Amino acid sequence: MRSRLVRFWALAHVTIVLSLGIVVASGGVARAGLGAPELTPDQARRVDELLSRMTLDEKVGQMMQLTLETVAAQTAMATRPFVLDEAKARSMIVDHHTGSMLNAAGVAMTPDQWRDIVGRLQQIATGETRLGVPLIYGIDSVHGANYVKGATIFPHNLTLAATFEPGLSRKAGYYTAAESRACGLAWNFAPVCGLARMPAWSRVFETFGEDPCLAGAMAAVSVEGQQGDDLSAATAVAATAKHFLGYSVPRTGRDRTPAYIPDTELMDTYLPPFEEAFAAGARTIMVNSSEINGVPVHASQRILTDLLRGRVGFEGLVVTDWADIQKLVNWHRVAENETEATRLAVDAGIDMAMTPLDTRFAGQLAGLVRSGAISESRIDESVRRILALKMELGLFEHPMPGEDETIEIGSDEAQMLSLEIARRGVTLLRNRENLLPLSGREKLLVTGPTADSVVPLHGAWTYSWQGTDTALYPDTPTVLDEIRHRFGDERVAYEPGASFDEAGDLDAVARAAADADVVILCLGAQPSAEKPGDIANLDISPAQQQLAEAIVETGKPVVLLLIENRPRIITAFEKGVDAVLWAGHPGPHGSRALAEIIAGDVNPSGRLPFSYPRDPQGLLTYDHKHSERFDAGGHGERGYDPLFAFGEGLSYTTFEYTGLEIDVPASFPETGKVAVRVRVRNTGARDGAEVVGLYLTDEVASITPRVRRLKAFDKIDLRAGEERTVSFDLGPDAFLMVDAGGRREFEPGAFAIQIGDQSQTFRIPAAD
Ligand code: BGC
Repeated sequence: MRSRLVRFWALAHVTIVLSLGIVVASGGVARAGLGAPELTPDQARRVDELLSRMTLDEKVGQMMQLTLETVAAQTAMATRPFVLDEAKARSMIVDHHTGSMLNAAGVAMTPDQWRDIVGRLQQIATGETRLGVPLIYGIDSVHGANYVKGATIFPHNLTLAATFEPGLSRKAGYYTAAESRACGLAWNFAPVCGLARMPAWSRVFETFGEDPCLAGAMAAVSVEGQQGDDLSAATAVAATAKHFLGYSVPRTGRDRTPAYIPDTELMDTYLPPFEEAFAAGARTIMVNSSEINGVPVHASQRILTDLLRGRVGFEGLVVTDWADIQKLVNWHRVAENETEATRLAVDAGIDMAMTPLDTRFAGQLAGLVRSGAISESRIDESVRRILALKMELGLFEHPMPGEDETIEIGSDEAQMLSLEIARRGVTLLRNRENLLPLSGREKLLVTGPTADSVVPLHGAWTYSWQGTDTALYPDTPTVLDEIRHRFGDERVAYEPGASFDEAGDLDAVARAAADADVVILCLGAQPSAEKPGDIANLDISPAQQQLAEAIVETGKPVVLLLIENRPRIITAFEKGVDAVLWAGHPGPHGSRALAEIIAGDVNPSGRLPFSYPRDPQGLLTYDHKHSERFDAGGHGERGYDPLFAFGEGLSYTTFEYTGLEIDVPASFPETGKVAVRVRVRNTGARDGAEVVGLYLTDEVASITPRVRRLKAFDKIDLRAGEERTVSFDLGPDAFLMVDAGGRREFEPGAFAIQIGDQSQTFRIPAAD
């Protein structure tokens, strides 16, 4: 086998050589200048000139990012506005030379409040400092401009990924950027490029799912949508691919705890979505708060310099995550004190520290330069990147927010997009005896803790960090409201049944169910993110389990709605449930989308972007190894056996696949592409949309191959009876495997492609 191995770096192909001697063919993604700001020669000269005039203190100040709270006389709450402390603002910006600020100090503010505050900070930065360098303001607009009152809130990324429609991610990115920038927020900490491969992790809903191909595609176009063609446009922000690298898979599921990831997996699974975001032009990355294989990423030269800069070729800005240099001391314990931690992080490759509550970082860094521990040219590298980004964003010319008043915040168009994403992302996972759609004549009982609350529809990062402050929410309809609206008040009974934590009046639920033809059981979880979202048990809460069991007991047909931030185990009662709709956090219009799907006004077309585990140990993903296959007939091996698999999702119509054709050029992989075609027909009576997913299997490889991997997909709308041919072209990258040293290589041999129920095996090079 080895002798027939074709090394891509031996061909005329882009090559990446990792430190430790790891060689990686990049798949064509890496090229010089990834993430580098695009400046005119004049702008580049201005950056150099400015840098040459800066004192050391001014430079290290540029590398510091403070949270808005540091300049607050009063933080914002639902009941009171933010008040700026002018003296503190001057101290931070003029005396400490702070180059960047972030976050909402407390909760969401109106566009005018944002413009006033960011505008005032910019006035101080540009008018009262020696060199007049504007601030760059960073924010977590992770599903719309979620810290701006009145802005459009979109479904969270996991629901967006379930659409399998990158076009929707691009549009959401555009509106998110435009509505943020209109408030002076020019830098967005999104998209997440990590993968949901550890279901217990509290940030699963922020990801685009478990698969690198899907996540990479959705993240790349989000970057394009946010950044547009011209970063200085009034609708553009600088996007952030986060959190580099391997943050999403802590071994225990608890946020910011150790991950153990071998190089093969790092390269073959976790790096690719970031590479896609870089290829799309992402200007910045945020670093993984946690550690991989015992090394905190903020202190990892190997990840932040050798891999990111040297091998991938990323030239954009690297910002730390929240207080993560300090955490090298007290959390990770790789540094004895903060000065040492600062040295480690700057040596590793960070450009800006989200300190974010104090200015100690700048003093420590200046001290390190003065003592010779860090060279000033190293500082210049980072400061040049920061100034260049500000220049490219047009902040030197237009530091004041909201100058372009044509941007409407929360426009009807953007709200319709949010609804559309919910309609196309909600996923029908079971529909026994075609219970759905309902006829409209049934009497319904609606019950469960997600039935009459807007909070789980939105999720964390909505108006506040954890998203649970209901006083901040505008009047948005709940699932119950929308079901009543669609089916008529007289047909819909409601019993809360349970809160997330406490069972309610189960007798009342049983009595109401006895009167109903169908029960809509609305379960899920209270939104949460990061450490506050850590859980000890993946099971759905006991109170909800009791409610579900009581409902199942009644023998009535049950439609289960799952409105939740990560999959919670429902195995104890799922067999008694006839239909299942997964919604994730579908956003403010998610209730309408759910009601429309239940009523049959919308034909569901979402596909699950992750594997829904059957049991808490069901940690496997669809692209597992052959030895992790489920084998009921053997010795009872328990392999991949999710309750619902990645890619699963039903429609109210049916689709048939025929005529798979695969054309492998004789010269492949040196030149050419593998052309794949398949016919898809809507064989049912309704119009519908189908996700056509192309999966590749490397039949035999020197590193145990995965059973299959998604390599391309397309979502097509087909009218009842319509047939269409779908084509894909696969380049050599699709056929690379990662060897033990982390090298991406091509190994000749047998491959198989599956699309729908069609499958074909072929060899590369073709057998003579
Ligand atoms: C999160 C980041 C976020 C940052 C700034 C951190 O706690 O991990 O995702 O961008 O805070 O709010």
